[in-house]
Amino acid sequence: MMGLKAEDVFRPGAFPEYTYISRKSAVSDLPYEFRLMQAIKVSGFLTSLVGPSKMGKTILCEKVIGFEKIVEVSGADFSLETDFWKVVAAKVGLAYEGEFSSEKMIADTKDKYSKKETYSLTKDKIIEYYKKENLVLVIDDFHYAQEEKRMQIAQQLKDAIRRGFKAIVVSLPHRADEAIRRNADLSGRLSMINMESWEVNDLKEIAKVGFEKLGIQIEDNVTTQIAVESLSSPQLMQYICLNICTILEMSGRDDWCVKPEILNIAYRYTTANFEYGDVVSLMQKGPNMRGKSRNRFRADNGKDYDLYELIVKSIAENPPIMKLEFEDVKERIYCLIADDCKKPTPQAIKESLVKLQELLDGREDIFKVLDWKEGVLYILDPLFLFYLRWEGGGNKDV
Ligand SMILES: Nc1ncnc2c1ncn2[C@@H]1O[C@H](COP(=O)(O)OP(=O)(O)OP(=O)(O)O)[C@@H](O)[C@H]1O
Ligand SMILES: [Mg+2]
Repeated sequence: MMGLKAEDVFRPGAFPEYTYISRKSAVSDLPYEFRLMQAIKVSGFLTSLVGPSKMGKTILCEKVIGFEKIVEVSGADFSLETDFWKVVAAKVGLAYEGEFSSEKMIADTKDKYSKKETYSLTKDKIIEYYKKENLVLVIDDFHYAQEEKRMQIAQQLKDAIRRGFKAIVVSLPHRADEAIRRNADLSGRLSMINMESWEVNDLKEIAKVGFEKLGIQIEDNVTTQIAVESLSSPQLMQYICLNICTILEMSGRDDWCVKPEILNIAYRYTTANFEYGDVVSLMQKGPNMRGKSRNRFRADNGKDYDLYELIVKSIAENPPIMKLEFEDVKERIYCLIADDCKKPTPQAIKESLVKLQELLDGREDIFKVLDWKEGVLYILDPLFLFYLRWEGGGNKDV
């Protein structure tokens, strides 16, 4: 492994210089980089980039705009009282309506004078500065700003972009994009880019490119397995590949080759990066029974589980899927239960799914892992599903 270290090549938490993969939008059949560049070049338009968590929205902006020209702010930087332009100015080192005072001692004289200057950098000057320097403002994680603030920001942007200010608003789908996408004032002045989930073939590229750079051999079907297990998340792919490297390094061997045998260990070690323990135990416990006891069902392995525990188990089953039809959930549960033993009714399963959703709603973001609606169970967070599958000994059916 000359020069390059595994942690430089596989970067789950930062810009992956050596393993950046360009992919095409399935809808337009154009590379995302091109789409974003194209959008930025249209003067007078605001760009709205929307996509599921951890699909590479921030990385795409950094790639296309470059670290020289990108100015990144987060929705979390804005409370209701925060002045939008103050933040935008501060990020590039401009003072905005700031007070500047200086005190100078004049040597040799006891004369001390102080001078107070008051700047009032107007919004116009800030916009001019951004234009002159070719800067692009990226408002990342827009959903972290409160709804009212989002509306205010949209209002400010509307005026600024008309004057050639360049901005991209990045958010999760359905959560925060209304302030931008449903804003009548902005209609006709909006370039919309929807980022889709990653396909297995694109994920495979991360491993192929990275291991090649490191001089490590890996067969195509092994890359496929890792990509399937990564559940459409490039971040998970980067994590798993990095952990594989660490395992290889620590084994002290020098035949650098990724054998399928080490995959299960690599997956299990990778779960140590994630903190879903509380989420899983909350789901397994289900809602408070106030002393009543629940029906238990005898599983193949001879143990008894209640319905909540069975649902959790069923989600973790093979194959790993982020979108389960109710029939799939039911089938998976029935398969877990020993032959000839009593099974929960479909109605009972549905009721438990509703309750499970209620239990998770209204908690911190990390608990937002499921969405049960219209007969489909969506797993919202790939890292969570991965954790569920591999934490504690790994997947028994593989
Ligand atoms: N084009 C890419 N090629 C290779 N790896 C990528 C790519 N895009 C993203 N990744 C990996 O995924 C990780 C997460 O990407 P990023 O932070 O851009 O996601 P995001 O969509 O902005 O997530 P969030 O919604 O949480 O802000 C990156 O740190 C990187 O490891
Ligand atoms: Mg991001």
